[in-house]
Amino acid sequence: MLAYIDSSLRPCTMASASVDNKWQKDAADQNFDYMFKLLIIGNSSVGKTSFLFRYADDSFTSAFVSTVGIDFKVKTVFRQDKRVKLQIWDTAGQERYRTITTAYYRGAMGFILMYDVTNEESFSSVQDWCTQIKTYSWDNAQVILVGNKCDMEDERVISTERGKQLADQLGLEFFETSAKENINVKQTFERLVDIICDKMSETIDTDQSLRPTPTITPTEPGKSPADSNCAC
Ligand code: GTP
Ligand code: MG
Repeated sequence: MLAYIDSSLRPCTMASASVDNKWQKDAADQNFDYMFKLLIIGNSSVGKTSFLFRYADDSFTSAFVSTVGIDFKVKTVFRQDKRVKLQIWDTAGQERYRTITTAYYRGAMGFILMYDVTNEESFSSVQDWCTQIKTYSWDNAQVILVGNKCDMEDERVISTERGKQLADQLGLEFFETSAKENINVKQTFERLVDIICDKMSETIDTDQSLRPTPTITPTEPGKSPADSNCAC
């Protein structure tokens, strides 16, 4: 539990001093139009931490250090003429951390739901992860299904077709990615940001009583919009 509390107060544990400095600069940067809270979820070892490190630091390590509890990184991107600050939470896939990690689902604008194309069990768990989103998140949360480790063609057990079919069935967008070879990592985040922006505009259009707010910062567990169902 200590590790979880400590971890939530600082960037990912493997970050170097220079990365720490960059993170502090990014985290403190108040110059943005929107702030989105995103979560990466999925079974242990599918590559969630590697995916985040590839995106935030353009780094990859083949060593497996299973995440304890939850951690996050901050990255600012430009999409649709807006400066969007992303607070990206990397959750532990291990079952024993489930109570901690699901507490962070509340207020998340988007989820990257990841399985490993070389691991049948991680693919079979996707439905359960969707149920977790439905239970602990809210209606407008956007979800992208990601089949990671697509560089490991020889060990692949989940075809691209099966991934697509499941995504269609769950009403999710779909990418196959490789954190190792840097395939579709940036594209996944950019697409998620775009669909969140689209959803926001749609909501504002359909409900004229809603006024656009300059910043959306649903960051703390327990301080989110009302509970309800996710899109999947
Ligand atoms: P937990 O923290 O336990 O939930 O696991 P995780 O999902 O964060 O997995 P992690 O990112 O730690 O990766 C697990 C192992 O898979 C590590 O040895 C990584 O190097 C490896 N890995 C991650 N992504 C890829 C990938 O795209 N291709 C290949 N070949 N290996 C990968
Ligand atoms: Mg991890």
